[in-house]
Amino acid sequence: MNSKLFVIYGLILVALVLSGCEKKNPPQTKTSKTTITNKENKMDITKESFGQVDGKEVFAYTLTNANALKAKLMTYGGILISLEVPDKNGQLADIVLGYDNVDDYVKLNPYFGALIGRFGNRIGKGRFTLDGVDYQLATNDGENHLHGGLKGFDKVIWNAEEVKTPNAVGVKFTYLSKDGEENYPGNLKCTVIYTLTNDNELKIEYEAETDKATPINLTHHSYFNLNAMTDNVLSHELTLTADNFTPVDAGLIPTGEIAPVKGGPMDFTSTHTIGERIDKVTGGYDHNYVLNNSDGSLALAATVTEPTSGRVMEILTTEPGIQFYSGNFLDGAITGKDGIVYKKHYGFCLETQHFPDSPNKPNFPSCILRPGEKYTQVTIHKFYAK
Ligand code: BGC
Repeated sequence: MNSKLFVIYGLILVALVLSGCEKKNPPQTKTSKTTITNKENKMDITKESFGQVDGKEVFAYTLTNANALKAKLMTYGGILISLEVPDKNGQLADIVLGYDNVDDYVKLNPYFGALIGRFGNRIGKGRFTLDGVDYQLATNDGENHLHGGLKGFDKVIWNAEEVKTPNAVGVKFTYLSKDGEENYPGNLKCTVIYTLTNDNELKIEYEAETDKATPINLTHHSYFNLNAMTDNVLSHELTLTADNFTPVDAGLIPTGEIAPVKGGPMDFTSTHTIGERIDKVTGGYDHNYVLNNSDGSLALAATVTEPTSGRVMEILTTEPGIQFYSGNFLDGAITGKDGIVYKKHYGFCLETQHFPDSPNKPNFPSCILRPGEKYTQVTIHKFYAK
């Protein structure tokens, strides 16, 4: 072959290779683009009226992520009304307890799905002293203060704004808790952003600022049942990243001790079903676990698996504690969504938080927010099935 022909053949070959590449590349680009477009198209936020409370309209927002998971939230109490996640066969079902209408939430709500504040969990006798001033809060749980008092953040109407990012849909709730509300000091500006991501996470981001020093302990109070309320939660398997817990007195106020869980019925450092040792715990589980990660970074706190459906929920948090409550006070008196009767242990709560009664326990991580500081918390509920 002479050198001219060699060059011509060479050029033809290069042209063929290039045209081949051109043919291959566009469909690839197109597919991935279409996927992204489809994902964005599938993601959705709808807003509807959910009735009225005290003459004020309450709105419900339904978030749908790219994988068809759904979270429905309302402005009353920032309540998560329903959360649909898939089982091992891809079957979606609602996995949180709640009601079909707002009136039932107003009538009687043991905090189903609610945002809790200003101070989640208990404060002994409703009393604390801060910077030399004594405060007396409502005693709405025997002689103690529970979940923010008579009208906590679970019973107020929050402002809401839709949030959309390429990977998530959400609602941003804001609420100004005025100085003196429920006898807490300081105007407290709160923001809670719930997002449902395309990685199948329900992410809750909290922020707050105050103009006077105040205790603060915000949390979310969903009762979960990963088998869609077909039975109680005693066969759910639980692991907690906690070597210690805070023992309590008869009124569920911590004694101040940080005790190891090792070996006993409180020990979930290795996986156990909720029901396996519950009879050995007086009243059932209703305890604050001291998470091993205490530096404020986001870390795995809990994993719950429901073996029949295969649904798994992981909880990651920046908080130092988590209250594990096994639905001990549910007794069949409440009929919830779809006419389902919520019997004992029909739901469990894992409330990420600072420790109960921390305003009165100097050895617990401080829950005091001062002017100029920012309260932040991030908690993620991640779902998959196996
Ligand atoms: C508490 C329980 C209480 C439940 C509902 C939980 O956070 O730890 O003692 O019964 O909330 O009020």
